[in-house]
Amino acid sequence: METSIHLMLFSLICTTMFVYQCHAACAEVDSDTEAVAGAGFKLGCISCKKRSEVKGYATVEWFFRANGEADFVPIYTYTKETGQTIEHDLFMDRVDWNGSKRSGDIQDASIYLLNVTFNDSGTYQCFFNRILTYENHEYSTTISKVVHLTVVAKATRGTASIVSEVMMYVSIIGLQVWLLIEMIYCYRKISAAGEEALREAANAEYLAIASESKDNCAGVQVGE
Ligand SMILES: *[C@@H]1O[C@H](CO)[C@@H](O)[C@H](O)[C@H]1NC(C)=O
Ligand SMILES: *[C@@H]1O[C@H](CO)[C@@H](O)[C@H](O)[C@H]1NC(C)=O
Ligand SMILES: *[C@@H]1O[C@H](CO)[C@@H](O)[C@H](O)[C@H]1NC(C)=O
Repeated sequence: METSIHLMLFSLICTTMFVYQCHAACAEVDSDTEAVAGAGFKLGCISCKKRSEVKGYATVEWFFRANGEADFVPIYTYTKETGQTIEHDLFMDRVDWNGSKRSGDIQDASIYLLNVTFNDSGTYQCFFNRILTYENHEYSTTISKVVHLTVVAKATRGTASIVSEVMMYVSIIGLQVWLLIEMIYCYRKISAAGEEALREAANAEYLAIASESKDNCAGVQVGE
């Protein structure tokens, strides 16, 4: 009896985790937009399918417009069957697929640029051409995303990260100063209280002695 309950709980937990993982598997994270010259860079492009959408098949196209140019040019295509095709000399032998590998129902169309040059600065656009297969018809959709890429000589840090670091130091120093002030204040208070207590103790002793002698005197008087 107990074993079966344990088994049930165990399978429930497993199912929950599995379902959770299914849902967590696709998240539309925006691509980074700053590449370092000479290094590699992942151009991110993710289009998650909605839960209501049926099985489908997607092919991917990437376009590029260099800074100062008027038009987009096709640079790259990917399908599960044929793999990748680089379509522009500027990117020849410099692009690798970083997207979905196992499924033809591609949701991640990210690509990896090797050995980034300053000429790679510009606007990238990825397209998902997705065909959803319903029981008796097909429905095709196109989803596109844009990435504005800047190529820098060295990684620069975002202003937000600098501000938060400064804030961290300010708050650490502030806390320490506050702690110090508090300690000095407490120390003074305690030593003052100590002196007071000593004085009071002395007073109390004096009073006690005084009242004792008075009692003695009274006793003497009564005895007379
Ligand atoms: C992306 O591709 C590059 C180059 O092939 C590789 O080094 C890197 O590990 C890949 N990253 C992912 C997440 O697939
Ligand atoms: C990267 O490109 C630069 C010039 O654009 C070249 O000098 C260098 O050898 C390349 N590095 C690699 C690893 O391909
Ligand atoms: C960048 O573009 C300029 C002008 O089109 C060209 O002269 C130069 O060789 C290119 N540099 C690289 C590293 O491809």
